[in-house]
Amino acid sequence: MSEKRATFASKIGVVAAAAGSAVGLGNIWRFPSQTADGGGAIFIMVYIGCILFFGIPLMVSEFLVGRASRANTAGAYRKLAPATQWKWVGRLGVLTGFVIMGFYMVVCGWTLVYFFQSLSGHLYGVTDFSANFTDLQNNPAKQIVWMIIFTLLTAFFILFGVKKGIERSAKIMMPLLFLLLLVLAIRAVTLDNAVQGLDFLFKPDLSHVKSTVFLDAMGQAFFSLSLGMGCMITYGSYFNDNTPLVKTSVQVSILDTLVAVLAGVVIFPSAFALTTNPGTIVDDLVAGGPGLLFITLPELFNQMAGSMIWSALFFCLLALAALTSTISLMEVVTVYLHEEYRISRRKSTLLATVGVIILGTFSSFSSSFFNILDVSSAKIMLPVGGLFISLFVGWYLDQKLVYVQLTNNGRLNFGTGFLKTYIILLRYVAPLAILAIFIYGLAG
Ligand code: PFF
Repeated sequence: MSEKRATFASKIGVVAAAAGSAVGLGNIWRFPSQTADGGGAIFIMVYIGCILFFGIPLMVSEFLVGRASRANTAGAYRKLAPATQWKWVGRLGVLTGFVIMGFYMVVCGWTLVYFFQSLSGHLYGVTDFSANFTDLQNNPAKQIVWMIIFTLLTAFFILFGVKKGIERSAKIMMPLLFLLLLVLAIRAVTLDNAVQGLDFLFKPDLSHVKSTVFLDAMGQAFFSLSLGMGCMITYGSYFNDNTPLVKTSVQVSILDTLVAVLAGVVIFPSAFALTTNPGTIVDDLVAGGPGLLFITLPELFNQMAGSMIWSALFFCLLALAALTSTISLMEVVTVYLHEEYRISRRKSTLLATVGVIILGTFSSFSSSFFNILDVSSAKIMLPVGGLFISLFVGWYLDQKLVYVQLTNNGRLNFGTGFLKTYIILLRYVAPLAILAIFIYGLAG
């Protein structure tokens, strides 16, 4: 294809855009609820192991495939492995993008509802934050309206193209969100009894461990790093020849993990300190599920002077962080339709938007449908995609191409030990571990 593809403008733009995709509701909404469900510290330890052993190597691999092919997910496999079935891995990725957006956009809608409830003062007029969240859950029409608004907002950014839309937004919002989380974390850990929350987060307690902890943590790692569906392939296709793939992957993974852990440091100390039923707090956390963030945080803000302002600022930044993730999700689908079927970018965006709104509507009506999309994408589709990408780069791709991409054509220096370790991780460690975790997790 001789058509000129966009590239990211600056180095900081590259990291910001990839980190913008990674950091989102996955870190601030899903990570705490998975951590609660997974029993705290042990879940976090397994999670960090997954980031190191699959997350970083697989992110490098996705970037590499994207930049080597300069194409969308399915096109990348078609170009690098012509006339093979590998293109199905790319197509699975596009499908996964749809499935994720089908429930993610609903949660994005919740962030907008909470933003406006904070601004209007409604949120701090209620006494029972848990009932307030249940009211929203029981109101599909309201959820649908806000889900549609968020989807349209995403589509709007997609139409502006890569550089302007994604890069500009990510550069400003991410640091702000990080700062705000820091402030909230400080407030949370200085509450009375906050230390129990910190213990839950950082002191391993075997009595809370579940047999599915490995599968849960692995799924969360893929989800949080935007891996396994070709999102980072698509972003990698916009990188220029000087972008350092390994360094970028390490930076994005560190940032993403910091935000997730920081969100935990905000939520758990608050939950333990502010509960009215300390005896059942761990069970309540597990049962809290998707509501955890939307119930515990307003309780925390309620303890702070100027609660409305903090709360509005937080939900606004959260919505923006979610937006940089939905942009990356929708970009995968749009550029696939655009490049593979030669549909205009505008029409591709429209198609993606309609598809997402249909799925999102079902998710708003049925929490079990919502859960099916959540579980099947994070715990099945993304890890399967990850398994195939590691096999593709480890076994199928010409090792010379891998070397050229990793070292930017010999300009970056890595020892041979480093390159060998990377290949061993991709060939053996990641695929076998993913398979083992699958079998163990699905049996458990
Ligand atoms: N990583 C995003 C988050 O943590 O919120 C969600 C996500 C975005 C998953 C893009 C997958 C993806 F391709």
